[in-house]
Amino acid sequence: ILEILLKGLLRLEYRGYDSAGVGIDGGNGKEWEANARSIQLIKQSGKVKALDDELTKQQDMDMDVEFDVHLGIAHTRWATHGAPSPVNSHPQRSDKSNGHQGYHKGYEFESETDTETIAKLVKYMYDNRESEDLSFATLVERVTQQLEGAFVLVFKSVHYPGEAVGTRRGGPLLIGVKSDHKLSTDHIPILYRSCKLLVNCSLSDTCHTLFAEEKKSVEYYFASDASAVIEHTNRVIFLEDDDVAAVTAGRLTIHRIKRTAGDHPARAIQTLQMELQQIMKGNYSSFMQKEIFEQPESVVNTMRGRVNFNDNTVTLGGLKDHIKEIQRCRRLILIACGTSYHAGVATRQVLEELTELPVMVELASDFLDRNTPVFRDDVCFFISQSGETADSLMALRYCKERGALTVGVTNTVGSSISRETDCGVHINAGPEIGVASTKAYTSQFVALIMFALLMCDDRISMQPRRREIIQGLRVLPDLIKEVLSLDDEIQRLAAELYQQKSVLIMGRGYHYATCLEGALKIKEITYMHSEGILAGELKHGPLALVDKLMPVIMIIMRDHTYTKCQNALQQVVARAGRPIVICDKDDYETAKSSSRTIKVPHCVDCLQGILSVIPLQLLSFHLAVLRGFDVDCPRNLAKSVTVE
Ligand code: F6R
Repeated sequence: ILEILLKGLLRLEYRGYDSAGVGIDGGNGKEWEANARSIQLIKQSGKVKALDDELTKQQDMDMDVEFDVHLGIAHTRWATHGAPSPVNSHPQRSDKSNGHQGYHKGYEFESETDTETIAKLVKYMYDNRESEDLSFATLVERVTQQLEGAFVLVFKSVHYPGEAVGTRRGGPLLIGVKSDHKLSTDHIPILYRSCKLLVNCSLSDTCHTLFAEEKKSVEYYFASDASAVIEHTNRVIFLEDDDVAAVTAGRLTIHRIKRTAGDHPARAIQTLQMELQQIMKGNYSSFMQKEIFEQPESVVNTMRGRVNFNDNTVTLGGLKDHIKEIQRCRRLILIACGTSYHAGVATRQVLEELTELPVMVELASDFLDRNTPVFRDDVCFFISQSGETADSLMALRYCKERGALTVGVTNTVGSSISRETDCGVHINAGPEIGVASTKAYTSQFVALIMFALLMCDDRISMQPRRREIIQGLRVLPDLIKEVLSLDDEIQRLAAELYQQKSVLIMGRGYHYATCLEGALKIKEITYMHSEGILAGELKHGPLALVDKLMPVIMIIMRDHTYTKCQNALQQVVARAGRPIVICDKDDYETAKSSSRTIKVPHCVDCLQGILSVIPLQLLSFHLAVLRGFDVDCPRNLAKSVTVE
């Protein structure tokens, strides 16, 4: 079990990696139950490898130590409250005494984390229970009733040996179910308890539990992400907010306090399509590199079964019940953070063109800060790779409260955003592990374009444009491959730039988003300063930064902004700037004024941004490698930002 926990942590490490810990049965005897009456916490700062080394060291130092684990909890952390340190790492505990030596009334806190208050609260509620047979699930249920905010919790206790209880609110939690035998059911009905019955919870009602037929054992894995369990099982149950799931004596039950209108009274066991292969690095040096090179396939997966290149139609199953309502709306609002926000910026123009609706693109945090007015006839899109970003999730709830229709564009099946939106599109890019988002961006881009195409499928006047874009989507994977073949050239460019302090990236129109996204990639993984600048704004300030030393990258494509971009190029050259230009491969005019060009194939204007961003993904990757940084785990960042 310890090995499974550590492997699971490695798979989840991209979610946070400043420290890690395990809480496991602490005894070292023959009987697991006796062992489970004490708990051992082993925690380390740094990556999971440091924790693994510590566990090996402990076993090597004391030959008697054999971790005989029946049940364990493991966690990899990204610090919010309290600096990364072993004591601030999770799991957090209720007290140091392992429950044997009585307790202090004045609770002493050992860490600086808010999570520890929950561990202490559990102990308080347990010590003050009215009844001896208080079940673990009921105890947890009572505790969570006292909590405000978002959490995902898994508990293990010396008082309930061999039992685990998990619950969530606002964050993701799933249960992997593994059995060699047929399971007794493919869904678990919820056990509802009215508040007054809380004290007396009995687990005797076996029709509400999950077990394998012939009473053979079932293994259960609680995890915040399927990638941690997929090598053991692809059968999972996604828990809902405030579900309390308990594993007791090899059986799983799911409890809720009471049933409210609209609640589904059961949780289905779903079969995931994800393969372990998808979350392995293969021959690549990092996940980010693998994900960049996967883009010819990931965009195909986004379009698969949705775009018909023969009759130029688009179908999005996740929107079909709502598309008429969306077509009648007054305004589209795209809400997201970081790279996902840039996908909104990148597609705004074509959305405006094809839907003929006003389109606002909003950073979720700012949208909330402003208390932005939202109306019932608005349609709000939430673009999120993880589907768990707290700012986006809060904005989603804000829009729902105001009666707007909400649409998710996510990469994670079962994520909070995909579940809480009224309808949506899964981008199907496959798991994205590298913290710097790459293939999710291009798939979000494609998904939003597909939506725009769907919105105007019955407008006769739009048909030539629709055909042009759909045929552009058809050739896109091959054009992406062509851009990826520039890798060596971009590596050489990185070798010239990697010791610089700063890089400016300029462009306009369809490529402004590429500038923002390229600059974000460079900032987050190379720690160089980088800025995406709208070329139209150059003369209003940023031009002052340009001189012969400042590295400048410009994006100039043959579209409706071409002439204006040429002006910007001349403005830079006139200040002795030596721009590196990403341009169409046959654009000799631009090449004349550039110190260097990166030539990409030509494509329909509104898709060209997919081809212009890939050289910058590659550049940021090579710069980070040359500067000696861990590409997949940039400092201070985590993959899913589940705090506001
Ligand atoms: C940058 C990056 C972040 C995320 C942002 C939103 O490479 O990955 O900027 O795009 O944190 O995350 P999601 O898309 O999961 O909502």
